[in-house]
Amino acid sequence: MARRTFTVNCMKCSIKAALVPAICILLLVFFCSPPHGSYYHVGHLLRTNFDMWFGPKSLLLVAGVASGVITGSNGQCPEYSSYSKAPHPPFSSGELALPYMRPSPECRTFTSTAVERVIEDMKSRLKDPDLARLFENTFPNTLDTTVKYFNETENLAFIITGDITFDDFYVMAQWLRDTANQFAHYHSLLGADPHLASLVKAVINNEARYVAQFPYCGAFQPPPESGLSTSHNDWADNVIVNPPVDPKVVFECKYEIDSLCGFLKLSRAYYQSTGDSSFINENWQSAVDQIFRVIHEQSQPSFDENFNFISYFNWTGSRGSLSPRVNNRGNNEPKAYTGLVGTSHRPSDDLTVYAFLTPANAMLSVELVHLADVLDKVDMLKDISTKARETSSRIKDAIWNTTVVNDIFAYETNGFGGRYVMDDANVPSLLSLPYLGFLDREDSTYRATRKLLLSARNPYYAAGKNISGIGGPHITPWHPWPMSLVSSIYGTDDDEEILKSLSMIVKNTNGLGLIHESQSIYNGSDYTRSWFAWANSYFAEMVLDLAERKPHLILRENTPYRAGQWGKV
Ligand SMILES: *[C@@H]1O[C@H](CO)[C@@H](O)[C@H](O)[C@H]1NC(C)=O
Ligand SMILES: *[C@@H]1O[C@H](CO)[C@@H](O)[C@H](O)[C@H]1NC(C)=O
Ligand SMILES: *[C@@H]1O[C@H](CO)[C@@H](O)[C@H](O)[C@H]1NC(C)=O
Ligand SMILES: *[C@@H]1O[C@H](CO)[C@@H](O)[C@H](O)[C@H]1NC(C)=O
Ligand SMILES: *[C@@H]1O[C@H](CO)[C@@H](O)[C@H](O)[C@H]1NC(C)=O
Repeated sequence: MARRTFTVNCMKCSIKAALVPAICILLLVFFCSPPHGSYYHVGHLLRTNFDMWFGPKSLLLVAGVASGVITGSNGQCPEYSSYSKAPHPPFSSGELALPYMRPSPECRTFTSTAVERVIEDMKSRLKDPDLARLFENTFPNTLDTTVKYFNETENLAFIITGDITFDDFYVMAQWLRDTANQFAHYHSLLGADPHLASLVKAVINNEARYVAQFPYCGAFQPPPESGLSTSHNDWADNVIVNPPVDPKVVFECKYEIDSLCGFLKLSRAYYQSTGDSSFINENWQSAVDQIFRVIHEQSQPSFDENFNFISYFNWTGSRGSLSPRVNNRGNNEPKAYTGLVGTSHRPSDDLTVYAFLTPANAMLSVELVHLADVLDKVDMLKDISTKARETSSRIKDAIWNTTVVNDIFAYETNGFGGRYVMDDANVPSLLSLPYLGFLDREDSTYRATRKLLLSARNPYYAAGKNISGIGGPHITPWHPWPMSLVSSIYGTDDDEEILKSLSMIVKNTNGLGLIHESQSIYNGSDYTRSWFAWANSYFAEMVLDLAERKPHLILRENTPYRAGQWGKV
């Protein structure tokens, strides 16, 4: 069972056993117990004293620490957003001498026997010691660092994304999309490790609760049962969102259809690998109902035939808010009916230019078929299954009929003929269409589009001396994301290209042995996010895929390795 990570991880507290903790506790009481939910505002004050401090907790926690109740080894654990910014020994024997970046066993937030087994298996099979070290660091990263709460009896788990920070304080929020991706590389292990399976089931149940209440939102606060305090989101200050949200439940309400796809994907993957349908409870069913409500609402055109403007969701910044004003009173660009489902934000959390985001619709089309397959297998919710299949094929047809011109997919369209040809690094992306299961990597439209996307014809492609790939406006066009290289590996069978992309990823960790969000093409030490669990998971998932698909490229022996195919552990 994962520990409840009540840690008030004040590094300076752990330096001197007796005196310093007392001072730290005093300081904590003074600075770290602001009114519930507003602690980011004291960030500047605290930074000088506690730069490695884990995230402020309630007064109760402070009292707990003060009385020594919740300290123990947990209290000595370094905060991972700082830990991930410095290399730790031992170093790999390869030319890059990559560090060992796993927290010590007592500081890991969850331990899975199956995951440990895969790490040992892969370490002994991988040819390149640097790649082996990178796999060893990244594969368990989600479990090592992001499981902030798990209670099997309650069937609730809370998973953070990594180091999204304000003023060096990281945010305790769960993103639906990130979480689904953070667990995607463990899918094949769920049948072999019941403990890990029950964690995933608890994640699904927690998310079902969020989606049932606020289907338009993408990032959420810890469940009240966890005792974890909620975070205040500076980015949401003065942002007006309709339908309105409860900040005690919602961390951020940007509407991204792929967040809902993430929830569906995690659910069906759980079923596919365990055969257990018990996740389909009342909670889950109402979440699915809400997903269909959103799909219906967001398929409507902006104007009806009498020019009534139809808006089901709008989101806009205002004076003093960190988010800019969104035109058309928070509705952004109008859309016409095409059969596609509109989305307000991209998987990067940036605003869309046009509402119909092709790759997100592709993912939706794929996940709706999986949903129908699961429901048919367990013989439940026939009407939902029928609706899912119909919606899926409507979306698929619309993608092929309305987004492709001259054999090239547009990234976004608006139904009026407007199309934006580009790609963004975040998944779902056009480059990741084969990974998403929407089409085959040999599909001719994919191949033509891919060629364009990995060239100067894509506004967000950039090539430098040490790295080239796709970025996005989330950072800048000259900061490609390693994640785009992972997607490109999934999208090709060309050995040479795979090895080239793989080597670029392995060489661009800034010597830190983890996958970063983005990397400047101009400056080797200019990168973003040292602790990005989704990117770590996606990379490890790809390495496992290569171990099965192309063992000769990375393994000592040309025998496919399939994680999780060794029965119960
Ligand atoms: C899990 O939740 C149940 C019900 O709230 C509680 O009784 C139990 O103590 C919790 N278990 C742990 C390990 O916290
Ligand atoms: C914003 O959305 C709400 C529904 O959530 C709707 O009632 C309202 O009319 C919309 N406002 C605008 C300006 O579009
Ligand atoms: C869209 O595509 C489907 C199959 O690809 C086709 O049957 C249908 O007629 C097309 N619809 C339109 C409006 O072009
Ligand atoms: C490329 O990598 C080399 C070796 O790590 C480094 O010295 C150089 O600064 C990097 N150049 C750029 C432009 O990132
Ligand atoms: C490279 O990036 C680092 C980290 O952002 C920065 O400190 C340094 O000044 C940059 N170097 C150049 C030459 O711009």
